[in-house]
Amino acid sequence: MASINIVLGAIFIASFYLSGSLAFPPGHDEGAHPIGNGPISGLSTDYYKFTCPQADEIVVPILKKAIAKEPRIAASLLRLLFHDCFVQGCDASVLLDDAEEVVSEKKAIPNKNSIRGFEVIDEIKAALEEACPNTVSCADTIALAARGSTVLSGGPYWELPLGRRDSKTANMKLANKNLPPPNATLHRLIKFFQRQGLDKVDLVALSGSHTIGKARCVSFKQRLYNQHRDNRPDNTLEKSFYHTLASACPHTGGDDNIRSLDFVSPSQFDNSYYKLILEGKGLLNSDEVLWTGKDPEIAGLVKSYAENEQLFFEHYVNSIIKMGNINPLMGYNGEIRKNCHRVNQDI
Ligand code: HEM
Repeated sequence: MASINIVLGAIFIASFYLSGSLAFPPGHDEGAHPIGNGPISGLSTDYYKFTCPQADEIVVPILKKAIAKEPRIAASLLRLLFHDCFVQGCDASVLLDDAEEVVSEKKAIPNKNSIRGFEVIDEIKAALEEACPNTVSCADTIALAARGSTVLSGGPYWELPLGRRDSKTANMKLANKNLPPPNATLHRLIKFFQRQGLDKVDLVALSGSHTIGKARCVSFKQRLYNQHRDNRPDNTLEKSFYHTLASACPHTGGDDNIRSLDFVSPSQFDNSYYKLILEGKGLLNSDEVLWTGKDPEIAGLVKSYAENEQLFFEHYVNSIIKMGNINPLMGYNGEIRKNCHRVNQDI
């Protein structure tokens, strides 16, 4: 009899947890914190368990459709999370347009003519608003889109902590200050990440996001023609790779021509990015210096990830969760924007 009770108890507990959350795989046990009611604490993987359990089921089909139309969009959406989180935290500040009290981050140098994916975010947010009005923030929408894009590109899945709220401000100056430029030295890259509470493992693992997506010639041209202000190419560039790049990116003009960050498998989230770096075929200076920048720990990680995709995926998941935790707005701070382009108008 006792054993029957134990079995029934287990079934009850399991069905309780399963019924609330179809959006996320079972097995997590944090409590939900409905907006405005919960204590100010960390993000939680089942934050929308009662308020919008179907959130991920709404997000994924929209992503699938967008990626089928243009595989690169997965990369663009993943990058949005990075450009959001590094500027005053993961608060969807990157999505705000210019307004009376807002200077849009979209005009900052690292973002201008570069970040993309806004239409997909809009489509997802509109669908979330229809199903669960005033519930899922734009900041969480970005995080859900980034996680889904990674998974749909063949990368790892992670339990996504949620519960971010949206900022009422943007900071263009901070976007220029905090987002690392592609020609940064390794020393500076480490500093950029440290400023966000991220370490060397995070730098190497998250740079692996460049396993998908593209960059404009202007982002790596210096390497082809004037690496050290000496009118010469970067001598860490493998010769044939240099010639291919130079033919796509002439000395003058062509700045908006694009090349894949990982030309072996540009739409597949895998570890080929690291293999290419070992061969002198990393596209950006910031990619190649992970190997050539004379930091044994960092170079060791590049080599390990090139040899062991599973290790890369494990570290990637840890690091992207860390990045997604940078200064979220929670509790009564911020708001749930109705439209990700602008702050809510209080009537
Ligand atoms: C380590 C420092 C980093 C630097 C210097 C850097 C720089 C860049 C640059 C210059 C581009 C191409 C932009 C263009 O030419 O328009 C790019 C693309 C990209 N970056 Fe990074 N990035 C860094 C880290 C990251 C991180 C941490 C992530 C994500 C977590 C990320 C995700 C991406 C993706 C997915 C693309 C391709 C976007 C697309 O095709 O639309 N990057 N990055």
